[in-house]
Amino acid sequence: MNIGIDRIAFYTSHYYVDLKMLAEARSVDVDKFYKGIGQEKMGIPPPDEDVVTLGASAAWPLMRDGLLNDVELVLFATESGIDQSKAAGVYVHGLLEMQPRCRVVELKQACYSGTAALQMAIGFIARNPGKKALVIASDVARYELGSPGEATQGCGAVAMLIAENPQLVVIEPESGCYTQDVMDFWRPNYRSEALVDGKYSTMVYIHALLESWAQYADLTGRTLSDFDRFCYHIPFTKMAEKAHQKLCRKLKVELDPEQMQHLLEDSLRYSRITGNCYAGSMYVGLASLLDTTTADLSGKRIGFYSYGSGCVGEFFSGVVQPEYRNFLYADEHQNMLDNRTELTYQQYEDIFNYAVPTDGGEYVFPQYRTGPFRFSGISQHKREYESLME
Ligand code: HMG
Repeated sequence: MNIGIDRIAFYTSHYYVDLKMLAEARSVDVDKFYKGIGQEKMGIPPPDEDVVTLGASAAWPLMRDGLLNDVELVLFATESGIDQSKAAGVYVHGLLEMQPRCRVVELKQACYSGTAALQMAIGFIARNPGKKALVIASDVARYELGSPGEATQGCGAVAMLIAENPQLVVIEPESGCYTQDVMDFWRPNYRSEALVDGKYSTMVYIHALLESWAQYADLTGRTLSDFDRFCYHIPFTKMAEKAHQKLCRKLKVELDPEQMQHLLEDSLRYSRITGNCYAGSMYVGLASLLDTTTADLSGKRIGFYSYGSGCVGEFFSGVVQPEYRNFLYADEHQNMLDNRTELTYQQYEDIFNYAVPTDGGEYVFPQYRTGPFRFSGISQHKREYESLME
């Protein structure tokens, strides 16, 4: 049975910071950001956007196109959860007016949870042929102002419809996985910014890649030449490039800059101007690859490396389907990215320092530019959401 990604839609906030402006504010050479870490802009969510609105807005085109009517499983992957009990996906299920005969649950393991959700959705469809699942990976990446991680912030969500005989990518059954209990990046419940041992995290990311690949290669007998493109977890685009170089070096595969460009560049375009979307990051890369590659990817194999700090890594693969170009949201994605509002430094700091009130009071939030849904306020300890659709 062929199971995989039938549709993919991506959403990020309508506001961004250009890292040139951040570099000036931090007295850093802009090339450290533009070239050193390979990031140009980072998406910043306004106070009335959170993982629920990001996720619901990502999934909205699927709802509009009538693709969610018979979905029976919603898996919501995030590490920026908004409630210790209620799954963010249940709010999304409501906002999207999905049918009640549906299981909804939230998953967490740092940036890896999007892949955990994808694999679980595939298992669900294998057990229930003909049924469909919706995977949403939605996150807001926040580090302290002035910290080394600051330039790698971002936000966004990806919504993927998972089905039998998918239109976009069939996910192949073999996976290589690697888990190790490490403290490279974490966020205690009392903090809204992540803590990170930055350099160490890059080393663990690569170690987990080499281990995951080794198991995948053992299972499949494939070599790097069996892949036409790669999608890596993208905390910043340079990380993906460095990881692939390390993998090639380990396998004694020569790689010139042109080949590197061919294998990775199209998957990095969206992330370079939105920043880290944590759980959704690798899938933002997939949307970027499918949307922006001019060559026909039909029948081509993509290698995926998903990484979540803490840590879990997984290497797996998928094959692009013949008619995939007819089922993309490429124009909508481009339109959204082209129509964002740039923040000044002061606006960025004000938004960053804005904290969702935790005093149990009654709040109505000012309206910023958002997608079809917004986080409108808090009343009686309950988050309130508003649909801007007629
Ligand atoms: P840093 O230590 O300030 O940066 O922050 P640096 O000094 O290492 O410089 C970065 C690169 O820019 C270096 O290149 C410099 O040489 C270069 P490299 O040596 O690495 O090749 N550079 C320049 N290049 C051109 N012109 C210049 C210039 N100046 C310097 N003028 C760090 C880097 C990654 C540590 C920081 O951004 C950070 O802490 N980020 C957050 C953690 C992170 O993203 N880790 C990635 C792996 S872990 C992961 O992916 C999981 C994660 O997504 C979370 C999850 O799973 O939930 C984070």
